[in-house]
Amino acid sequence: MSRGAHIHFSKTRDLPKPSAYVQALLGEFSHWAFDEERAKDFKDQWRSKVFEKPEFTPLDLEIGTGNGFHFAHYAQKHPDRLLMGIELKYKPLIQSIRRARRAGCENARMVRYNAALLADLFAPGELDRVMVHFPDPWEKLRQQKHRLIQPEFMRLCHQLQRPGSQFEFKTDSADYFAWAKEVFSSSPYEILALSEDLHHSAYAESNFITHFERIFLRQGLPIHYALLRRP
Ligand SMILES: C[S@@+](CC[C@H](N)C(=O)[O-])C[C@H]1O[C@@H](n2cnc3c(N)ncnc32)[C@H](O)[C@@H]1O
Repeated sequence: MSRGAHIHFSKTRDLPKPSAYVQALLGEFSHWAFDEERAKDFKDQWRSKVFEKPEFTPLDLEIGTGNGFHFAHYAQKHPDRLLMGIELKYKPLIQSIRRARRAGCENARMVRYNAALLADLFAPGELDRVMVHFPDPWEKLRQQKHRLIQPEFMRLCHQLQRPGSQFEFKTDSADYFAWAKEVFSSSPYEILALSEDLHHSAYAESNFITHFERIFLRQGLPIHYALLRRP
């Protein structure tokens, strides 16, 4: 059993008082968004069963989509790719899928799951690009074990991503970035780009500003950026 498998998170169907967002997940959006129990059934079959697309179609993953500005933008910009989003919280999950649906995207789906447990959802080689934008920073020393970027998580992504695919990471936290750089450099990934100040770098031009990124930029904080390649 992996370390992540011990991380507990509640089951949607056991919630005593389902909010409007939970009801939307189980009802109105149930074709495009999956609770933890349904999601596991599609492991290794997202392309064929859910999207009804051939195996060669790229399947990308955004972890922690928040309000879905980037999620909907990415799905719309890449109609020839498939996009999955993973969220723990119901409100951002529904905001994300609603935004993508309103933008007319047929290529996007959301899953309610803990991203530390990706191996429950995807089979080796099932994923292409993986994107992690502003994950919870867990700044205090005793909280660092909760950070998503861990050596074991990177080994898992390496297993789940197709060779040649990319892993994108952004954070406002200098401390998390220093941590992540160490994890990345001892991982099997090749580092393609690193910046301690994305918006004053050559990578700014192709960057999409996420909801949290906008907030941090307004506060004058530099954005840290890493782009990796799975060999
Ligand atoms: C700080 S927000 C960033 C949202 C968005 N990416 C952005 O840049 O605006 C982090 C998001 O990750 C989600 N999240 C945190 N831990 C998670 C986990 N283990 N699995 C899935 N989602 C998670 C939170 O619910 C939250 O919506």
